[in-house]
Amino acid sequence: MNSITIHPAHSIKGEITVPGDKSISHRSIMLGAIANGITTVRGFLRGEDNMSTMSAFRAMGVRIDDDGQVISIHGSGLHGLKEPTDILDCGNSGTTIRLITGLLAGQSFFSVVTGDQYLRKRPMKRVVEPLSRMGAKIMGRNQGSLAPLAISGGMLNAIGYDSPVSSAQIKSSIMLAGLFADGETSVREPSLSRDHSERMFSLFGASLDRFENGVTVRGGVELNAQEVIVPGDISSAAFFIVAALITPGSELLIRNVGVNPTRTGVIDILKDMGGDIKLLNQRELSGEPVADIMVRSSSLKGISISGSVIPRAIDEFPAICIAAARAEGVTTVRNARELRVKETDRITAMADNLRTLGVEVTECDDGMDITGAEFMSGGQVDSRGDHRIAMSLSVAALVARDGIKVEDIDCVATSFPNFFQLLEKVSVK
Ligand code: S3P
Repeated sequence: MNSITIHPAHSIKGEITVPGDKSISHRSIMLGAIANGITTVRGFLRGEDNMSTMSAFRAMGVRIDDDGQVISIHGSGLHGLKEPTDILDCGNSGTTIRLITGLLAGQSFFSVVTGDQYLRKRPMKRVVEPLSRMGAKIMGRNQGSLAPLAISGGMLNAIGYDSPVSSAQIKSSIMLAGLFADGETSVREPSLSRDHSERMFSLFGASLDRFENGVTVRGGVELNAQEVIVPGDISSAAFFIVAALITPGSELLIRNVGVNPTRTGVIDILKDMGGDIKLLNQRELSGEPVADIMVRSSSLKGISISGSVIPRAIDEFPAICIAAARAEGVTTVRNARELRVKETDRITAMADNLRTLGVEVTECDDGMDITGAEFMSGGQVDSRGDHRIAMSLSVAALVARDGIKVEDIDCVATSFPNFFQLLEKVSVK
């Protein structure tokens, strides 16, 4: 288990690009694998989570080449996946296990999916229940609520599903199963979660209709290979946006970042707090909006965060907590219970670690109150095996009074393998 000590920075300066979007990278492999023809992917994120997805499809007989620049996926068509000869290990990746379970539900073979010690604690009933309603036979620990999951798939019945939570993983799992269902499968969610699946399904030629907070997919329609270009991940950019906002005298340009409106809650929230953030050179790549992001250090103020912005910023709360810890006044977060079932319980993990750094935090069931402070002390904090907790606390170190030692940082490789090198590059000491 590795640790790093990060020292305060004078300012954050420069121009960077961040690695490819994790959600889009996963989906490019999955749809490429079941399309007809060879899909090419540029800008693919070679983090551990996406490599888990790649290995799973290779284990189902899909040829995937990587020349270091371009990933080429030799699609097997809608019905060409092969029964894997071993358990599919999804590592730390919730997106891999939940989406692949939807896809496997529609295959006429047997498969078992599992993951690391963290993934095996995360709730799976949320996909097992609707997929079982579609006719899949899925067994798992704790009455099908925990991985490993054993899946006996086949022809599925189309369903209309009202999801109790706004979750792109639930929605996408059912959409993938819907490709193998007899008829039209619909999913509706309380408010819209990230819509990368909807956009990529359309790109690959799936038959799909969107309605308010929902989508309908028609089964049995073959997909066509595409050339996909993956933009930089706004969730990775978020650490650098917060770093530049809170470190005085900073100016940072982050080029080529995905700015899909279902993902830009973090920008809306940080702008509401007073952040100087500008989107430049807006354009579209492979059906996804992209921009360069210019950030300058700003005096932040506490705000209330709740409602439909929560799913639009769900992965960025650890970084937002660091901005809140430096803002004037109190920041309240509510309706964010989903944070408790991420790679770790992110409400408790951030509250405990911020308190270690001398910040006042009160936890509640679905959120927290953070009282901003002009000074954060240094100290020793712990990621609890969660990549985004590790990166957020590393950003806090830039403005802490003394250095911060972050324990358990290997997890950063799941989504952002060169994070520490980039942070070093833009930190003026
Ligand atoms: C993701 C959906 C979100 C997000 C995760 C990636 C996706 O999870 O937190 O990092 O790619 O679909 P939920 O669907 O559980 O909110």
